[in-house]
Amino acid sequence: MGEAPYGGRYDFSKHHILEAVDGILERLQVDYLDALLLHRPDALMDVDKVAAAFDELLASGKVRHFGVSNFNPGQVELLQSAVNQRLLVNQLQFGVMHTGPVDFGIHTNMTDEASVDHDGGVIEYSRLHRMTIQTWSPFQYGQIQGTFINNPAFPEVNRVLGIVAEKYGVSKNAIAAAWILRHPAHMQVIIGTMNPDHIRDSAAGADVSLTRQEWYDIYFAAGHDLP
Ligand SMILES: NC(=O)c1ccc[n+]([C@@H]2O[C@H](COP(=O)([O-])OP(=O)(O)OC[C@H]3O[C@@H](n4cnc5c(N)ncnc54)[C@H](OP(=O)(O)O)[C@@H]3O)[C@@H](O)[C@H]2O)c1
Repeated sequence: MGEAPYGGRYDFSKHHILEAVDGILERLQVDYLDALLLHRPDALMDVDKVAAAFDELLASGKVRHFGVSNFNPGQVELLQSAVNQRLLVNQLQFGVMHTGPVDFGIHTNMTDEASVDHDGGVIEYSRLHRMTIQTWSPFQYGQIQGTFINNPAFPEVNRVLGIVAEKYGVSKNAIAAAWILRHPAHMQVIIGTMNPDHIRDSAAGADVSLTRQEWYDIYFAAGHDLP
């Protein structure tokens, strides 16, 4: 993001991408990045300029793999048509309280609000193209409002998460992570905590394999409906 007066906006120019990577390497004090994701689509994206930036970053050894964040399938296809490296990752919000990417599929052929596809079928597209989805903010409702886990504003989903958590002997956070991992797209859960105990606690979800019934029970308890 740039500077005032408007807080800065997205910039996929070659110059900015190269400069941004140098800044990241400097701040992290590392020689290369395993993966660079372009964060949120720049409406003014010139894919050939991005391709030139990626080629330079790969050749210089500064970046090894590339991906995107919050791209729809059309945007991925457009960028992929120009860049020489496979786009491996798309970071998207998805979790118990943010289910749009599966709602519209469940509600296919309906006329209700949940049947509206806001993301261009991004989960199906990612599975078809073996593109890894990384799910950001798995414990948040909305975007930055806060976490729904143990939040009294969300009694029903916490009740059901609690029952399932007790069955598997883990925390509600772990079950919310397991809910994402249960999806056959093999998503990666991007948790935000820097607290080692919370990392361990949430990571316990990787050892839980929810039943189909539990997956749908949690979906339903989170306020989503089924046709
Ligand atoms: N690509 C994008 O557009 C995008 C957008 C937003 C975020 N992100 C990325 O997504 C990642 C996650 O974001 P987030 O921070 O919103 O994620 P989050 O993991 O959903 O939420 C973090 C919150 O959950 C709490 N928490 C986590 N584990 C817990 C546990 N076991 N017990 C109790 N509390 C727990 C944390 O508290 P404590 O801090 O006290 O542990 C913190 O308040 C970040 O790396 C961020 O950069 C990406």
